[in-house]
Amino acid sequence: MNRITELFGIKYPIIQGGMVWCSGWRLAAAVSNAGGLGLLGAGSMHPETLQEHIDKMKAATARPWGINIPLMYPEIDRLMKIIIDSGVRIVFTSAGSPKKFTPMLHEAGITVAHVVSSSLFARKCEEAGVDAIVAEGFEAGGHNGREETTTMALIPQVRKATSLPLIAAGGIGCGQAILAAQALGAEGVQIGTLFALAEESSAAEAFKQRCVAMSEGDTMLCLKKLAPTRLVKNDLYGRIAEAEARGADAEELRGILGHAASKRGIFEGDTNEGELEIGQVASAVNKIMPVSEIMDNLVTEYRSAMNFEPLL
Ligand SMILES: Cc1cc2nc3c(=O)[nH]c(=O)nc-3n(C[C@H](O)[C@H](O)[C@H](O)COP(=O)(O)O)c2cc1C
Repeated sequence: MNRITELFGIKYPIIQGGMVWCSGWRLAAAVSNAGGLGLLGAGSMHPETLQEHIDKMKAATARPWGINIPLMYPEIDRLMKIIIDSGVRIVFTSAGSPKKFTPMLHEAGITVAHVVSSSLFARKCEEAGVDAIVAEGFEAGGHNGREETTTMALIPQVRKATSLPLIAAGGIGCGQAILAAQALGAEGVQIGTLFALAEESSAAEAFKQRCVAMSEGDTMLCLKKLAPTRLVKNDLYGRIAEAEARGADAEELRGILGHAASKRGIFEGDTNEGELEIGQVASAVNKIMPVSEIMDNLVTEYRSAMNFEPLL
């Protein structure tokens, strides 16, 4: 037991990050049933869809689970109302300030964690009263820190900046990396990429196959003028990179991305023209596995990694 397993009432301090177009009830329930914490990714759900996933989640697991909400979501007030009215116990917020919503969620008895990419924002989270912090390095899939701070550099600094329970995210693809995150000061990990490529993820098969075939260097952080995002280098990425190299502004970049680019790429499987969000560690994933196998591997690898000879 540690502060993260106690805070969320889970067996393993392994959180499946909320992920647009990937983390519906099937994935989140599988992670919670395997002893981790599954999070529904509300960022790609209309309010009615979120309600449906909450209802299915309640039927699919008796274990603790939660919801991730990016705070810049346009229908945020409606989503928050659904979450509170449905009796959800855990919320992970991201992409915005936790100041406004944390007191409201606390009043409803909800445990709140917030995702940051710097020590500065970690301190702001502490001021806002959140219960735990996820510190995410720029190896991660999805939206990302503008400053490009890696997980290895970020975690010890956030550890010093706050005394709150700390969850490390970004580039964690094996049990050894969980041990490394712990050595850096984290008490739990949030994993996205591995679970986005799991059997139970709602991402398109074509997206998963494209990602498991990747090599190192096949993703790149771009779109800093919009929201910094790590993308697979496909045709769409090529056009974005070319435009960015000649100084394209936010409006032009928005035009190149087009409407619903991440849905097109991740959910509908248009691997050439869609926005394919995945982390650097995808190049270490070679096959699509069920969540139970991924969790077993993480636990086994973590335990065997503890048997090392001290270096110093
Ligand atoms: C496809 C994809 C979609 C994501 N969508 C979200 C999201 O909606 N909200 C969020 O807070 N983080 C999102 N993330 C980030 C994850 O929750 C997680 O923090 C990150 O993937 C961890 O790094 P890793 O990919 O190296 O494991 C997304 C990541 C991926 C790969």
